[in-house]
Amino acid sequence: MDFVMDCLGVNENGNLSIGGADVTELAKQYGTPLYIMDEEEIRRNCRIYADAMKKYYDGNGLVLYASKAFSCKYMYKIALEEGLGVDTVSGGEIYTALSAGFPAEKIYFHGNNKTWDELEFAIKNDIGCIVIDNSDEVDRIEEIAEEYGKKVKAMFRVSPGVDAHTHDFIKTGQIDSKFGAAIETGDALKLIKYTATKKNINIVGIHCHIGSQIFELSPFCETAEIMLSFMEKIKSETGIEIKELNLGGGFGIKYTEKDKPIDFDKFIEAVSKVVKEKAEEKGLECPFILMEPGRSVVASAGLTVYEVGTVKRIENVRNYVCVDGGMCDNPRFILYGAEYDAVLPERPTAKRCEKVTVAGKCCESGDVLIEDIMMPEIKKGDLLAVLATGAYNYSMSSNYNRIPRPPVVMVKDGESKIVIKRETYEDIIKNDIL
Ligand code: LLP
Repeated sequence: MDFVMDCLGVNENGNLSIGGADVTELAKQYGTPLYIMDEEEIRRNCRIYADAMKKYYDGNGLVLYASKAFSCKYMYKIALEEGLGVDTVSGGEIYTALSAGFPAEKIYFHGNNKTWDELEFAIKNDIGCIVIDNSDEVDRIEEIAEEYGKKVKAMFRVSPGVDAHTHDFIKTGQIDSKFGAAIETGDALKLIKYTATKKNINIVGIHCHIGSQIFELSPFCETAEIMLSFMEKIKSETGIEIKELNLGGGFGIKYTEKDKPIDFDKFIEAVSKVVKEKAEEKGLECPFILMEPGRSVVASAGLTVYEVGTVKRIENVRNYVCVDGGMCDNPRFILYGAEYDAVLPERPTAKRCEKVTVAGKCCESGDVLIEDIMMPEIKKGDLLAVLATGAYNYSMSSNYNRIPRPPVVMVKDGESKIVIKRETYEDIIKNDIL
């Protein structure tokens, strides 16, 4: 039986298993809805990237896990143990990483509108590198660094003008973007020249990220080439040698059979080749490279199990299968029209004979998890697992309708443990004041 996630199987009881554990048993033990993640799968993905960096770029680089995909203390611990650094985008992510014992020097801090407090927190804690977005930020960093007597290591978020084929909301490489400064308009060079006038900022690199859920190598190669040309230009116009080149993340994963992902190491192989060739051609030193995979590290390691409640068959219109979660634990359909596959954990191989729409329990018509999917016949009380929910599900969850967030259970060698507890009603009101 082929699933869209490699870590799934069917066990001797005929039930769906993840990382050797029985999904039905886990649902009984921890309740539903429930996020389940296979730790070994996450670690395997980390290793694919870390090994590729060694193999194709002689280890002259670092893979940063883009922790917005799934952030909690346990995840930072895994990233650290697998030799990765992390990409963070908020004070909260930095705080979580530090609380998990993640070394500050391997934390990179992104964001188009970092607040004063976040910058101060990052600088005070000697965060490894700040990825500068704009000139206001340069002023703020300079002032805070001066106050704390620190020299801040920085790189610049630049837009290479590459159009990757993905959803508009997760495209970032074009000029019309709230992120960074464009190379094409001259803004990026201006920003670098301006920063060079500051004495507390140490310019080490440039960064770009062209988008997310991308299935082709060519936009990454094209981007690498543009970035190398930009490094050459920076050197000739300012004398500054760019030592670090961060090429972002965005590598596509398989949500449904339609998705045809490329082996993750191929991205590093391809860009390494371009960087080496272009550096030599331009007489530049080979930069230290960074890559920032998020989704591809965790997405295919996770699923979400729900219990089916109402099943509403509207004749000749639609069959609604309503589950005990929804857009509050997975907003990706309502945001991006994202597609998912689902399996019944108690009958994973049953014939798919009925077209249904899996809807959530939120008070919102658009609260759908999967529209029009062929499933075996479903009845109230069945378990239903939505697959490949390891990325941008827990991290984008909300308490809409005051629904408590589900817990995250990590499975390893058939054993399970909670890494994020289920929220309670008490948690829901903890900040309310009467
Ligand atoms: N680096 C930077 C600077 C980024 O902005 C992102 C993602 C990544 C790395 C990681 O990209 P990944 O490898 O995960 O594709 N919420 C959306 C995805 C937003 C991605 C934002 N930035 C979704 O659910 O599809």
